[in-house]
Amino acid sequence: MGLLKEKVNNLNNKPMLSVLQSKDCDLPHPPVWMMRQAGRYLPEYQNTRKQAGGFLDLCYNSELAAEVTLQPIRRFGFDAAIIFADILLLPHAIGQKVWFEPGHGPRLTPLTTPEAILDFADNDIHKQLAPVYKALQLVREQLPNTTTLLGFCGAPWTVACYMLNGEGSKSWAEVRHHAYTNPKAMAQMLDVLASKSVEYLIEQIKAGADAVQIFDSWAGSVPPDLVDLLVIKPLLTITTKLKEQYPDVPIILFPKGVSKETLLKLATSGNSFECLALDEGVNLEWAAENLQPHKVIQGNLDNAILLTTPKIVAEQTNKMLSKIPKKGAYIVNLGHGVLPQTPIENVTTFIETVRDF
Ligand code: CP3
Repeated sequence: MGLLKEKVNNLNNKPMLSVLQSKDCDLPHPPVWMMRQAGRYLPEYQNTRKQAGGFLDLCYNSELAAEVTLQPIRRFGFDAAIIFADILLLPHAIGQKVWFEPGHGPRLTPLTTPEAILDFADNDIHKQLAPVYKALQLVREQLPNTTTLLGFCGAPWTVACYMLNGEGSKSWAEVRHHAYTNPKAMAQMLDVLASKSVEYLIEQIKAGADAVQIFDSWAGSVPPDLVDLLVIKPLLTITTKLKEQYPDVPIILFPKGVSKETLLKLATSGNSFECLALDEGVNLEWAAENLQPHKVIQGNLDNAILLTTPKIVAEQTNKMLSKIPKKGAYIVNLGHGVLPQTPIENVTTFIETVRDF
């Protein structure tokens, strides 16, 4: 083992954090966790969710949010816990009306134009988000010392999509329409969201997050001409500002659905972040060859595989692992969040397969 590797391994006993910090770590198997690992596929989540009332009530109840964050760790022993919250807590804290309709998903009173963000730009977010920070502290106290604690936020583009559209969409055409008619205002809106996100992530780090992930779930809806303005620039604004203050806290970016060109551009953009999370559409062999020399990669088992049988889960997980020669710069995950109808035994098989590889 090289000197550097030894040093990093001695730095902490959290395998996932070691991978992120060293970018090439000597471990028996790669770390594993799942996006949306705290959620509806777990009966214990369903119970706590009922106890809390609504989804937002659960997010703002520090004790219960900590409890559901810990549930998948107790059951499966994942290498990371991600704090239970939602990317839409930020628009909510900024002052927009946000609610969750059962069977429909998130709802917001839509901003009529990107400029409308300026009405909210000076609002303090921390009073409302204090329960999230408290939940991080509570999780930190109860988490095994080998588990990495993740904070997170949504990327400016993805959060702006919901803020302007008022609900989910397949195409986000109405939002791109704003970007074409008034790119300056759109850029300004993303700028405001980027600085609020930095503030939010800093408080999460202070409360105990070891690393953070930024979810750009709708980056794939942005055409090539706008990708620099709406995806790459806002993401790198956040990572650069965060790195200035917390150089040792690793950052994971999840630009879901973007082109190989965009992934390469991000991977070679410098040292403001450590890891690229990949969706199931990315060829892992290509990623190992082209992205991994620059960044740790995370992903990307198709979440539909976890709906099948333990046998298929094991086969497909082994197939995925064999595509990555350099396991020391790799974190196992899904390509997107675990689905509510996922059988628990398939999750167990997924983790066991990684640990037996
Ligand atoms: O376990 C974890 O991953 C941590 C918690 C977490 C949630 N949402 C909880 C949640 C995280 C990291 C998120 C991120 C999030 N939220 C994203 C980005 C990641 C992605 O999946 O693309 C987005 C786009 C949202 C917005 C959001 N929240 C939507 C579109 C929905 C409805 C769809 C759905 O899955 O129900 C939510 C609700 C939500 N967020 C649930 C959970 C567990 C389900 C709520 C419930 O219990 O009814």
